[in-house]
Amino acid sequence: MKIIAHRGASGLAPENTLKAIDQALISEACAIEIDVYRSGDSLMVIHDRWLHRRTNGTGQIKSTSVQQLQALDAGEGERIPTLEQVMERINGRCDLNIELKGPDTLMLAHAAIDYACRHYNFSHDQFLLSSFNHQLLNESYRLRPELKIGALTSCLPLDLAYFAQQLNAYSVNCDVDFLNQAMVDDAHQRGLKVFVYTVDEEEDIELLSQWGVDGIFSNFPCQARKKARSKVT
Ligand code: G3P
Ligand code: MG
Repeated sequence: MKIIAHRGASGLAPENTLKAIDQALISEACAIEIDVYRSGDSLMVIHDRWLHRRTNGTGQIKSTSVQQLQALDAGEGERIPTLEQVMERINGRCDLNIELKGPDTLMLAHAAIDYACRHYNFSHDQFLLSSFNHQLLNESYRLRPELKIGALTSCLPLDLAYFAQQLNAYSVNCDVDFLNQAMVDDAHQRGLKVFVYTVDEEEDIELLSQWGVDGIFSNFPCQARKKARSKVT
């Protein structure tokens, strides 16, 4: 079972900051998941469209300049990083799952992935583009079919993993609250990996291992790895 650091190792450092990225790397997570919104021509690594929950700022990401955004405190004196800063920090040492939050993030994400493969030690297959915005994922596949897609769902669809197969996804990324064995089996039969968020508890890890899920998003990747013990690949 793969351990994916959720918003970096967000249980150990402010979520989606370089400090959380560093903690995830120390934890030897297989991959790191981050969230991105757009400001101008940059993708900013932050979970919320509005600034007030995670920073000392107010207003929306899209109406704030990169310079203004990077002057804010994102917790413990950390800044909101750009996607490029996160890529530079990881430098291919683990895989990167970019969750597209804003509807205007796709083209910049494609460009950033290409840049990272040219300038840092990344290869294209280390990236997973995920989103709850399935139209965006559909567009990604149309433009760049070689880039892996993670089809996010926060529900248990009537036709299980069919929607993810329709999107030509690599994985279906499911909410632990709604996942069941039937969904896992259906996804696997369709050739999809199953990644589950957000999982920190040993009991959940044990059950998901029994169901045969391929990976979990954890806020505490080091602890999750230990709890998953021999099931980690
Ligand atoms: O990508 C998994 C998970 O991050 C999706 O939910 O709200 O934490 O971005 P959220
Ligand atoms: Mg996310």
